[in-house]
Amino acid sequence: MQKLIIKGKRELSGKISISGSKNASLPILAASILANQVYLKNVPLVKDIFTMVDLLNFIGLKTKINKKRNIIKIVNNEKHINTLAPYKLVKTMRAGVLVLGSLLAKYKKAKVSLPGGCAIGTRPVDLHLFALKKLGAKIKIKDGYILAEAKKGLTGAIINFPSISVGATENALIAASKAKGKTVLKNCAIEPEVKDLIIFLKKLGSIINLKGRTITIKESKIKKTQVIHKVIFDRIELGTYMIACILLAKNNIVINKIDPRIIKSEIDILRKIGAQIIKRKSSIIVRRSRKLKKINITTQPYPGFPTDLQAQLTILLTQATGISKIKEEIFENRFMHVPELKRMGAQIKIKDKTAIIKGPIKLTGAEVMATDLRASVSLVLAGLVAENRTIVNRIYHLDRGYEFLEKKLKSCKAEIKRI
Ligand code: UD1
Repeated sequence: MQKLIIKGKRELSGKISISGSKNASLPILAASILANQVYLKNVPLVKDIFTMVDLLNFIGLKTKINKKRNIIKIVNNEKHINTLAPYKLVKTMRAGVLVLGSLLAKYKKAKVSLPGGCAIGTRPVDLHLFALKKLGAKIKIKDGYILAEAKKGLTGAIINFPSISVGATENALIAASKAKGKTVLKNCAIEPEVKDLIIFLKKLGSIINLKGRTITIKESKIKKTQVIHKVIFDRIELGTYMIACILLAKNNIVINKIDPRIIKSEIDILRKIGAQIIKRKSSIIVRRSRKLKKINITTQPYPGFPTDLQAQLTILLTQATGISKIKEEIFENRFMHVPELKRMGAQIKIKDKTAIIKGPIKLTGAEVMATDLRASVSLVLAGLVAENRTIVNRIYHLDRGYEFLEKKLKSCKAEIKRI
């Protein structure tokens, strides 16, 4: 099993380019089932993307990955379509459940494995099913599979989500794009990745309007044309590298291929902690901040502070003066990194949904184990700040979502290697 070995306390210098967003690419790939031919640009070539491509191939689409240019071509020639998403492909990547909306909308039936729980929580799909039922789907659960059918096709409806879900919003949006009549989705997730999906669906011919947390989808004919779409940048990858730079930059580090307007709340919070960040049109400049202050924050749906940056922020706060608190409001079990960080010297207590972090603390290298994608990268950040050597085990979690992590860090003079 591969591991990362990090020699800590190396100053970072150079520049970093941010990859395309994994969480935006996945729903767009799932929605590609609705099209005939899609060229998706700026796709990060990470494990979850390959799993989604395997799933599309299994369904019967033809895919071609241009690894040099980060482009995926997807062709649906409507031959030998299999409306099944099997357990082996959905269990490793929950976003597989996003093909449910497109299969149901286009082929009027789908059999999709229930994704099951994962390290960060139970993660049910009841909200996805709630929305699809409102659109007229008949749904049964049998032998671990969702069996969905809409013999006469889906029909538009007013759907008021009882709570905000990124995936359920995306599944409903994709399905409603091909439903008869108008759909109004209320209390939606409005993450930039959801907005990127809307842009993609509009290119396919959907008529979609977003106002506040309400999305209206007018009855629209999905055109059978060739669609070209460039995926937005990965704001979580950006946040992760910003934190690395705040902790360790030697001089100014330029992080490019981004849009600072999309991560306004993250920048505001990092500045409150003491970070020095300069915004440019498509890049930001980050400096090392030696005086970091405590903060109390709560993770929230966009535009709030993202749960996907909670573990990385924890590392920053171990270096801030005072007692900081992070309340995790999105997932029930997302502090798996904390016991590992404690082994590196961090002083963190968990009380209900809140991590109470004491700083500044000198972290020291240790052998640690990654438990999920974002927890893993927080251990890498901890290793970069810590004295001596850190070994991060089970890095297959990292490979699910971070493109060229070691390469990017090494190019900034970090001492990190994979064995
Ligand atoms: C997406 C992101 C993930 C991020 C999360 C929250 C992708 C591929 N993944 O995950 O990185 O951490 O948004 O920003 O985009 N819930 C239900 N019932 C449902 C669906 C969700 O109760 O049917 C709950 C979840 O358990 C969780 C909360 O709603 O507590 C938010 O989850 P959701 O927004 O759906 O996350 P994902 O789409 O799975």
